[in-house]
Amino acid sequence: MSTLDIVRYSLLFAHIVGLSAIIGSYILQMPWKRNFDFLPLVIGAIVAIITGCGLIATREVGGLGVDQLKMIVKLGLALVVGALSMIGLLRSRRLGRADADDSGLKPLLLGAGMIAMANVIVALFWR
Ligand code: HEM
Repeated sequence: MSTLDIVRYSLLFAHIVGLSAIIGSYILQMPWKRNFDFLPLVIGAIVAIITGCGLIATREVGGLGVDQLKMIVKLGLALVVGALSMIGLLRSRRLGRADADDSGLKPLLLGAGMIAMANVIVALFWR
């Protein structure tokens, strides 16, 4: 295995840890009614985007190439996941400071989690 392969597989490992943070915390909090924690979703989205770009770079350098349209779709979906999670994080902090109910933030959690799962489907079935 070449050094480039080791770098690419390490990035893929971090990519999967990042998307697990998004989908895992979404599944964990799905039955909750309030007190949502959006931080693991924000961190997971940032990790998935950075490692995704690294994966594209290592594939290009190694001559493997990528499907550019697939990557644009994946990046777009990941940016939506990141935006929904960041809005959820900022709003939950503001509501927390005011000691107010954050149950209205659940659609943001569901949206971010389901779009991340849609991105897994794109990753696996778009060949
Ligand atoms: C929520 C965000 C994301 C999820 C859930 C996700 C999911 C996945 C999964 C499950 C794989 C493994 C597929 C396989 O090895 O067969 C993968 C690979 C990959 N992802 Fe992502 N990804 C996300 C974001 C991104 C972003 C933003 C980019 C780039 C801009 C990206 C680029 C790639 C590349 C280049 C690979 C390896 C090559 C391939 O299988 O197409 N991903 N992703």
